[in-house]
Amino acid sequence: METIRRTKIVDLLKCRDFGTMVNVKGWVRTRRGSKQVNFIALNDGSTINNVQVVVDLANFDEELLKQITTGACISVNGELVESVGSGQAAEIQAREIEVLGTCDNTYPLQKKGHSMEFLREIAHLRPRTNTFGAVFRIRHNMAIAIHKFFHERGFFYFHTPLITASDCEGAGQMFQVTTMNLYDLKKDENGSIIYDNDFFGKQASLTVSGQLEGELAATALGAIYTFGPTFRAENSNTPRHLAEFWMIEPEVAFNDINDNMDLAEEFIKYCVQWALDNCYDDVKFLNDMFDKGLIERLQGVLKEEFVRLPYTEGVKILEDAVAKGHKFEFPVYWGVDLASEHERYLVEEHFKRPVILTDYPKEIKAFYMKQNEDGKTVRAMDVLFPKIGEIIGGSEREADYDKLLTRIQELNIPMKDMWWYLDTRKYGSCPHSGFGLGFERLLLFVTGMANIRDVIPFPRTPRNAEF
Ligand code: 4AD
Ligand code: MG
Repeated sequence: METIRRTKIVDLLKCRDFGTMVNVKGWVRTRRGSKQVNFIALNDGSTINNVQVVVDLANFDEELLKQITTGACISVNGELVESVGSGQAAEIQAREIEVLGTCDNTYPLQKKGHSMEFLREIAHLRPRTNTFGAVFRIRHNMAIAIHKFFHERGFFYFHTPLITASDCEGAGQMFQVTTMNLYDLKKDENGSIIYDNDFFGKQASLTVSGQLEGELAATALGAIYTFGPTFRAENSNTPRHLAEFWMIEPEVAFNDINDNMDLAEEFIKYCVQWALDNCYDDVKFLNDMFDKGLIERLQGVLKEEFVRLPYTEGVKILEDAVAKGHKFEFPVYWGVDLASEHERYLVEEHFKRPVILTDYPKEIKAFYMKQNEDGKTVRAMDVLFPKIGEIIGGSEREADYDKLLTRIQELNIPMKDMWWYLDTRKYGSCPHSGFGLGFERLLLFVTGMANIRDVIPFPRTPRNAEF
């Protein structure tokens, strides 16, 4: 075959140099036609759109044609011609075809319309479907948007460790990291495991959040963000929880809770706008195929100012709803950790726009949050979104050494883990705030996918670590 430089399909479909010879490489989505002429829909992953390859059967060897099946990988040299029937402006009149990789009829993606559950079982192949191609292109673009947003505002990307000895959220949901022989664990007289000879010389785990180290950086560099994998051994099999997810955690010196809310709102709106501006073809595909309200919901979030409301008032609204006959699965009262159904009621039914709930009871929030004067609540903020519930969790941090120490002691958090964190409050403490955005929760919102397992390439959930 003649060597022609490959053009990606995304570029080819924009090209108007009709009459030139081009090369494309990709995977056959479908092949149809008559005895004289066949039409191959070819996709190379660079765009949701296929290019149509027109094949005059008389010009090609029958043995070669037999190998052009759904899923096969081919290279095509041909003339770029204006298209009338393919739904695109350009198509290719094939001159030479080479089969790079054949694909027999055991290929599981022969037909369209597989269930999401089935596609999860073949997560190694699902990126080849339209849906997952769209989702993973959007995922990439959102990652770029996030770095761009913070970089343009003078935030530094700070790398916090994935292996840690402290439990940031204090929820005890950590995966342990060890090189010890689990069949032969040394224990002391109380039956506690001795870690002296373990790899790190102490108990270590995968991080649940980079925040504590992020605070060390913010109180030195001013404004930082982290963006990395996060691990939670919470046994919740829900459409919104993963055992391994990605989190973005900005942390800013001198920001109070209001600055923190402003940042969160500006940040999410920037990401949503980015998706509409840079991933329109993919978003439109998902809108048309799965979720007819998607684009409208994305545009809606951009238009509206988020509601800002103390937890206490949020609970009143929910209690009123119950009094008027609304049924929730879980009870609602002051002090309760709100369930996703409560959050969604506030967002979807009551206010009909995103809500930032603030000033939660201190008992249901982590130790590091700034304590309010009332002695009962802390300066927490959760951003609640339609269809998702909590998308962001954050707070102003307790900057006062004594108050923070008291809280650490009340909660029996071992000081040997916390001395370095307390040093930020001992040496030049400053007001500061930050939050964590769950990357996959943002992707759920932007793609309209219903299950968090479908916005990460290889989901890790209880009893599932395949691929
Ligand atoms: O509310 P969380 O637990 O807050 C923190 O970890 C803080 N240290 C963040 C900070 O202030 N720097 O988690 C933050 C966000 C949640 O709002 C949610 O979007 C996401 O992380 N998240 C999860 N996403 C997927 N699967 C899980 N199991 C998640 N747990 C939390
Ligand atoms: Mg939270």
